[in-house]
Amino acid sequence: MRPGVARPLAEPFSGDTLVGGDEQEIFAAMPEIGLETTDTMAEKTLKIATIPGDGTGPEVTAEAVKVLEGVAAIEGFVADVETLDWGGDRYLATGEIIPEGGLDLLRTKDAVFLGAIGHPDVAPGILEKGLLLDLRFQLDQYINLRPVKLLPGVETPLAGRGPDDIDFVVVRENTEDLYCGVGGFLKKGTPDEVAVQQAIYTRKGCERCIRWAFEYTRQRNSPKKTLTLVAKTNVLTFGHDLWWRTFQEVARDYPDVKTDYNHVDACCMWMVKNPEAYDVIVTTNMFGDIITDLGGILQGGMGVAAGGNLNPDPGGVSMFEPMGGSAPKYKGTDQINPIAAINAMGMLLEHSGQPAAAARIDRAVAHVTGTKMKSQAAGKMGYGTKAVGDLVVEALS
Ligand code: IPM
Ligand code: MN
Repeated sequence: MRPGVARPLAEPFSGDTLVGGDEQEIFAAMPEIGLETTDTMAEKTLKIATIPGDGTGPEVTAEAVKVLEGVAAIEGFVADVETLDWGGDRYLATGEIIPEGGLDLLRTKDAVFLGAIGHPDVAPGILEKGLLLDLRFQLDQYINLRPVKLLPGVETPLAGRGPDDIDFVVVRENTEDLYCGVGGFLKKGTPDEVAVQQAIYTRKGCERCIRWAFEYTRQRNSPKKTLTLVAKTNVLTFGHDLWWRTFQEVARDYPDVKTDYNHVDACCMWMVKNPEAYDVIVTTNMFGDIITDLGGILQGGMGVAAGGNLNPDPGGVSMFEPMGGSAPKYKGTDQINPIAAINAMGMLLEHSGQPAAAARIDRAVAHVTGTKMKSQAAGKMGYGTKAVGDLVVEALS
């Protein structure tokens, strides 16, 4: 059974195409969405920057790098890892979040790995905006890719559901919407205060995301082969109308991909009731943020959920991260679950020309969750953080 279609996709897009020459060039280059594989790539050196960050970030990053080194040795490529000390401690000591020249340094890398940000002594928002969101925007990482996959042996809160039921991917737009940082206050601190927070949607921004999602759905090639647009067209009648029209127009280029539409509130319901109906979801930044935490819990919690911030354009630099946050209370206790970070490293390899290495990590992780770990919750895994990393390394070969 498929989630309800709130609006049929039959009505043809009536306007002329709005895509200009530049965009067409960008999109022409899009079919390689990071899943390319050639024998020559296997020889290459992968230049990776890690930003271990705050709290338990460094501990989980260490395990992900351990697995990276293990898989590189087996698959025959070289991982050249540079560790950057960006994060809360550096900010408190120097007042700087991204040091001068930092972005240019990242632009020389094949990919970036981010452990976690969030420091108990730094006000909420400062590091999130100054580091994570700034990197997403400045590196134009316009896709936030969040697989929602229940691994063997992992508990989901959905009764009677298993790995066959929960296996879909959310493609979240990552540079626009309410995240654009446009807004302000009027009469701040007075009883007449006004706060404005603008959502911005551009044709270019939604089209490149939607087109990438269609490509991804085609390449994922699941038996469902369905891309579902999740939005709120019944209320956001300007911004999400743009998304809706663009989705229909781009859909014409992908006759082999089935399309569906859910309002975001209904999507939350369907994700719980019929998660097996989803294949790939494409959605706006804010809704994507919200539904991917719901997805995260369906797949066993923040101990396993990973994501990628992709700039899939030629020369773009992408960044991969476990979704769990910095969990300061577990810092330094060898209790935090490194599986999400290891999964993020797998995604990094998949999108950096090393799909065989990524698949090897996926198999090793499934073996460890399926046959070794007692739980995915911090402190209840039956093993320490480092021991879980060792188990994954052992299972690589
Ligand atoms: C995520 C996170 C971030 C977001 C926060 C930390 C700014 O929740 O990656 O989903 O809202 O995008
Ligand atoms: Mn989030």
